[in-house]
Amino acid sequence: MSDPLIIFDTTLRDGEQSPGASMTLDEKIRIARMLEKMRVDVIEAGFPIASPGDFEAVRAVATAVKDSVVCGLARANSADIDRAAEAVAPASAARIHTFIATSPIHMRDKLCMPPEEVLAAAAAAVKRARNHTDNVEFSPEDAGRSERDFLCRVLEAAIKAGAGTINIPDTVGYTMPAQFGGLIQELRERVPNADKVVWSAHCHDDLGVAVANSLAAVTAGARQVECTINGLGERAGNASLEEIVMAVRTRRDFFNCDTRIETKHIVAASRLVSTITGFAVQPNKAIVGANAFAHEAGIHQDGVIKSRETYEIMRAQDVGWDANRMVLGKHSGRNAFATRLRELGVEFDGDGELNEAFARFKELADKKHEIFDEDLQALVSEADHRQEDEKLQLLSMEVQSSTEGAPLAKVTVTVNGEQRSREASGNGQVDAVFRAIADIAGCESSLQLYSVNAITGGTDAQGEVTVRLERDGRIVNGHGADTDIVIASARAYLNAVNKLLTAPRRHPQTGGAI
Ligand code: KIV
Ligand code: ZN
Repeated sequence: MSDPLIIFDTTLRDGEQSPGASMTLDEKIRIARMLEKMRVDVIEAGFPIASPGDFEAVRAVATAVKDSVVCGLARANSADIDRAAEAVAPASAARIHTFIATSPIHMRDKLCMPPEEVLAAAAAAVKRARNHTDNVEFSPEDAGRSERDFLCRVLEAAIKAGAGTINIPDTVGYTMPAQFGGLIQELRERVPNADKVVWSAHCHDDLGVAVANSLAAVTAGARQVECTINGLGERAGNASLEEIVMAVRTRRDFFNCDTRIETKHIVAASRLVSTITGFAVQPNKAIVGANAFAHEAGIHQDGVIKSRETYEIMRAQDVGWDANRMVLGKHSGRNAFATRLRELGVEFDGDGELNEAFARFKELADKKHEIFDEDLQALVSEADHRQEDEKLQLLSMEVQSSTEGAPLAKVTVTVNGEQRSREASGNGQVDAVFRAIADIAGCESSLQLYSVNAITGGTDAQGEVTVRLERDGRIVNGHGADTDIVIASARAYLNAVNKLLTAPRRHPQTGGAI
């Protein structure tokens, strides 16, 4: 019998802290439902004190999810903890995750607190969280660079105060696998009552070893891993859920533990997160990249045809690559449409919302012969984004290109309901459209990224556009999808501008605006 390994997914919290990866409440619920369907043990739904929107999102996830523990993050202070407790209260099983930094550099330069005060704050925070729930997790932030004796004392105090899970974060992705495994081993040996808690790893990928570090921790006795779909997360990201889960599943013989994850939903979860955030998955990414199971070289193909195991250590269908995909088209009815969306985790608030979505589906089906799951997800995300675009909304646009002169764009946008039009020329159609919209919005920003991705194959595929804008250090991503990529680009640009015009949220660790 192998030990259970707890999968703690933080796509909705640490993943969302990735610049530009912010999600709407509906998108968070869709991702949470997908995580629940995959049988993720714990879903960290957000940082409730960051903003009223974050609070509502955690509360909505706590209400929607039944089979996973729903967790809220809180710094080690009463206000954060009470707010997190309020947000996760509707959950069938709730957890509060409280943290404070323990490395010399963080205590001195960020917290401006002497170590003894940090130790006392850690114990008090866990105690306060325990007044709300029995399920409390404590993290010493930047544990990878913390001084060992002090770390042991803080963890001893946290366990004594009632923490049931001790999570060890390599916050800045600095530690190497042998070191990180050694750290877990040492803490399990030295901290009094270490055997009374679950040890957990939380690794960042700055040096490309987040998954290796997490697996080293498992080898050293950690029985919870914190990870995200597609490795989304701060800077270079967090350890990727799909890689951890499949490493442990494929090499159960080595790790002696296993997760309860239903791996056949992994590819769908990866696509969902990528569509919602606009963060494309690189083709050669393990497990979920388009090439992960493709055999290019002739010699490999020959081997795979003779015997799959010659070059494949996992089956593509086990992670959902060949999952039966229902294709919808213009003759599909409302019922088939609603049923498929429900299976993808999308619920409608009454007939009105369903009818609107169905009308958009019919519009798309007139332009595109076959509608795949990815098209449906893009359709729903697109509507979510547009609903958010309260200030500026695209009304109409015309673009002209010729081999003789610069392209011209005429764009009409409503700004708080009032119609405004501008014409602009540019280096290409997209450039001209962006200039016209920037002129209308009057919002200075710099374009940091523009990417177009075909959602499915074929020339009638929808183009999914991501636009990243930066203003005063704040970065936002905008998304748009349409079978016409210039229209998709205009929607993505407007989506980003609208986000820049909303109030920023607070980052739990740096305190900066995101
Ligand atoms: O990376 C980190 O240290 C964190 C903590 C809040 C656990 O995300
Ligand atoms: Zn983190």
